[in-house]
Amino acid sequence: MELPIAQRLQRIPPYPFREIARIKRELQAQGIQPTDFGIGDPDMPTPKFVIEALYKAAQDPATHPYDETGFGIPEYLTAIAEFGRRRYGLDLQVEGEIQSCLGSKEALVHILWAYIDPSDVVLVPDPAYSVYKVQAAWAGGAAFPMPLDPQNGFLPDLESIPPAVAKAAKVLFLNYPNNPTGGVATLEFYREVLEFAQQHNLLIVQDAAYNEVAFDGFAPPSLLQVEGAREYAIEMHSFSKTFNMTGWRVAWAWGGAAHVSALSKVKANVDSGTFMAIQRAGAVALGHYEDFAPTMRAEYQARRDALVEGLNSLGWNLQKPRATFYVWAPVPPGYETSAEFAAALLDQCHVLVIPGTAYGENGEGWFRMSLTLKDPDKLGAIQGAIERIGEKLPNLWG
Ligand SMILES: Cc1ncc(COP(=O)(O)O)c(C=O)c1O
Repeated sequence: MELPIAQRLQRIPPYPFREIARIKRELQAQGIQPTDFGIGDPDMPTPKFVIEALYKAAQDPATHPYDETGFGIPEYLTAIAEFGRRRYGLDLQVEGEIQSCLGSKEALVHILWAYIDPSDVVLVPDPAYSVYKVQAAWAGGAAFPMPLDPQNGFLPDLESIPPAVAKAAKVLFLNYPNNPTGGVATLEFYREVLEFAQQHNLLIVQDAAYNEVAFDGFAPPSLLQVEGAREYAIEMHSFSKTFNMTGWRVAWAWGGAAHVSALSKVKANVDSGTFMAIQRAGAVALGHYEDFAPTMRAEYQARRDALVEGLNSLGWNLQKPRATFYVWAPVPPGYETSAEFAAALLDQCHVLVIPGTAYGENGEGWFRMSLTLKDPDKLGAIQGAIERIGEKLPNLWG
């Protein structure tokens, strides 16, 4: 007899990327290799100096047991605090205001366990990384969508949140630079969100996974740069996209000591910290941030330019995103849904994109293309995809 899985798991749709991977496998079985603009996972290797640091650290038996600090080893936390000072001018307490995490996804999940009671409202952007909404439900809360519209620079309109909802809200998620829209936030916007949080006594969780992937000299700010933010905020940062380390599962959260300690308490009951050799390698990575990041940014910037200019040559009218490795584009007229357009691109042009609805209802009418590509010749693959779209689907924009 089949054992029934929990309602919690039954209620959520399949993880969107799993579904995309399934479709891709089907195509591959027919001998078709689409140009895959789907999953946002860096295609470049982790830099050598990080791998060497891990190799060295892993040989030291002192790194092999559990990390009993709970927050992270001093060497790691100090490197993060120093990075915070250099990059953002922040003055963070090494003990108490920083928490080592197993990837920022883990931190985004567990912060909800710390703050959400049954029926508490979680304000979630739409479109967004799927984790916020799913995890709000798993924590027992109710997600309330905050639409991100191009007219408002893909920022939520806080004034449109009904007062009763704002009153019931305990957590507000932000994600800037934004996946999937590529939208960015200013310090002024962060100030407004802080005022909102003060007014309604809620926690801002800012997902800064893409803060270091920015172009044209733009340096996205940290929410913690806003005076007084720590009392109401925690911000998640990750090595994944900055240093091509998605598989390493290494990240950190920084913010007010009360929030960091609440997250830490959850983690103490769930995991037993990050492998200390990985923490040492993370410290080395941050020490090289200023040398490494410009190369990473230049690579994505060249791809962004090729893709956006290519799409615009076919009739789109896109602005180049200032950060993230995503291009968020509207579905051309004549297609009713983003899923229909994505299917046409895949079937006829062998170009894999993600329909906007994978990120929420408000993603309808849009699709996302990631600049991370498995093809050896990245610019050639982008060019080829643009040519095939132009050839197979001419006059998309009339
Ligand atoms: C918006 C956003 N936040 C967080 C993550 C998770 O990153 P990490 O590898 O640090 O868990 C991702 C991964 O794609 C993401 O897109």
